[in-house]
Amino acid sequence: MKSILYMAPIRGVTNCTYRNIYSRMFKGYDIAVTPFINSAVIENCEDRAMRDLFIHRNDVSFDLIPQILGNDSVGFIAMAKVMGEMGYTTVNWNLACPHKRVANKKRGSGMLADPDNILRLLDEIIPAIPIEISLKVRLGKDDPHQLSKLIPRLDDYPLEEIIIHPRTGLQMYKGEADPEAFQEVLNLTRHQVVYNGDIDSLQKFESLQERFPSVHRWMIGRGGLTDPFLPEQIKQLHDPAAGSRIERYFQFHEALFSEYQVRLEGDAHLLAKMKEIWIYWSAAFEGGRRLYGKISKIKSLSTYRALVDTFFSKDPQFLI
Ligand SMILES: Cc1cc2nc3c(=O)[nH]c(=O)nc-3n(C[C@H](O)[C@H](O)[C@H](O)COP(=O)(O)O)c2cc1C
Repeated sequence: MKSILYMAPIRGVTNCTYRNIYSRMFKGYDIAVTPFINSAVIENCEDRAMRDLFIHRNDVSFDLIPQILGNDSVGFIAMAKVMGEMGYTTVNWNLACPHKRVANKKRGSGMLADPDNILRLLDEIIPAIPIEISLKVRLGKDDPHQLSKLIPRLDDYPLEEIIIHPRTGLQMYKGEADPEAFQEVLNLTRHQVVYNGDIDSLQKFESLQERFPSVHRWMIGRGGLTDPFLPEQIKQLHDPAAGSRIERYFQFHEALFSEYQVRLEGDAHLLAKMKEIWIYWSAAFEGGRRLYGKISKIKSLSTYRALVDTFFSKDPQFLI
């Protein structure tokens, strides 16, 4: 069966500007889940994350699934209705965000410690929203066995799918995603499952594919930021006419830079946005870490431009 590839939500990076430009320049993703919107911002449709979802602002070749973070059914339902009116057919509920300020307020991965509350909210939400719902989960808040207690109880709910990132919230992004724990929860659900965690090379993808033959949906996060060619490599969609890897990488940089220059107010915001992307890109090149060390300290746009132009003009070697 054909693999379906998902662009993971990475708040701050995979916004509509990134998605649009990516979709123009690269191939391979079938679906993108958008970074979370807090259900509390429903009062404010001018919120940047909400504006990011406007259909006219999204010109992409893959499907989009908006995501909500929250633990109140009223806010969730109101927001999912707005998403339905916008034209979206599925909403994803974020039960995975590991950050303490989120999890300690019993949101994101913090909800996984209380399965009854999740089921109670689903009982309220599902009949009230006009679109499908999917979940994005971790193994637990702080205990890797929390998901295995929740997941069989989800069998009775009409969920579109469950995206599983096999780490606990407490782990944040440390260590490695746990394939054994993933297999354990996979055996406990009748739902369609999407695997997410540490897919950062073709070899890694192929070994996971071999290990989990019943899984056909794969979400790629940080690995796809560092290596934007990875989805087309997995799908064997490489087009030699598209130019060399380094040319395409540089063009991607230029397109993001000029689009953010228009969209963001002031050099400081533009610089901050580009620095955020280089956190991932720096792992793509020999000497990239050193470059990131320098970029992270830059205060002026002209210094940034000069440094990046020099870096690319020296034909840097890929590590990926
Ligand atoms: C900076 C950052 C922002 C993220 N933002 C979100 C988000 O908004 N919603 C979400 O569900 N996951 C978010 N994630 C988690 C990723 O979607 C993904 O689950 C995680 O990075 C593991 O996948 P990977 O190993 O392929 O990167 C974020 C991760 C990072 C590092």
